[in-house]
Amino acid sequence: MFSFRDLKLEDCSLFHKWIKTNCFVKKWWYSNKQPRFLTLKNKIQEKLDRKNGINKIVVLNGKEIGFIQSYDVDGNGRWTRQVKVYENTASIDFFIGDIDYIHKGYGKLMINDFIDKFIKDKYDYVMISPNPENIVSRKTCEKCGFEFVKIVGLPYDNSKNKEVVYIKKCK
Ligand SMILES: CC(C)(COP(=O)(O)OP(=O)(O)OC[C@H]1O[C@@H](n2cnc3c(N)ncnc32)[C@H](O)[C@@H]1OP(=O)(O)O)[C@@H](O)C(=O)NCCC(=O)NCCS
Repeated sequence: MFSFRDLKLEDCSLFHKWIKTNCFVKKWWYSNKQPRFLTLKNKIQEKLDRKNGINKIVVLNGKEIGFIQSYDVDGNGRWTRQVKVYENTASIDFFIGDIDYIHKGYGKLMINDFIDKFIKDKYDYVMISPNPENIVSRKTCEKCGFEFVKIVGLPYDNSKNKEVVYIKKCK
C-alpha cells in the first residue's frame, strides 16, 4: 500500500504546498507564517545532514501524501534528565500533508509500515513525542501500540513547551 522514497531538497515545494493547504501541517511547522522556499530548503538540508537520519516522502498508491522522519535519540542529551532513555532508541516524527488523506485511518498504517521497514531491525525502541494538545497524534501513538511515559518540559531549545513521550519496544 505504502512506499517510501528518499526526501530531496526539491521537496521544499511539496512542503510549501502542504503547509499552505493543510492547517494540521501548519501546526506541525510551529509558525503561523507561511515559510519561504529558502527556509524550507535549509530545513530539509538540516534533515539530510543528520547522522543516521531517515527522511522519507510517503507514497500511497503512487500519490505523495506525507512525510516521515527518524533520528537517533541522544541518550546524553537533555532527555536523560527527564525520561529514561534506552540505548538504541529512534525518535520518529511525521505528517500527512495531503488534506484529502488526513484523519482517514492512513496515519496508523503509515507509522506501522515505516517502523516495520526502517526501524525495527536497527533499533530496540522507538519514541514519538507529540504536543500534549495534539489529540489525534496521541491517539495514533496509542493505536500503534506506543505506551505513554510522561509529559516533559522543553526537551529541545527550539521546540514546543511540552512534549508527551510515548515509547514502544521494537521487537
Ligand atoms: C498525526 C497524523 C499523522 C495521524 O494520521 P491520521 O491519518 O490523521 O490518523 P488516523 O486516521 O490513522 O487516526 C488515528 C487515531 O486518531 C484518532 N482520530 C483520527 N481522526 C480524529 C479526529 N478527527 N478527531 C479525534 N480523533 C481522531 C482515532 O482514535 C484514530 O484511531 P481509530 O481510527 O482506530 O479510531 C495526522 O493527523 C497528521 O498528519 N497530523 C498533523 C501533523 C502531526 O500532528 N504530526 C504528529 C507529530 S508528533
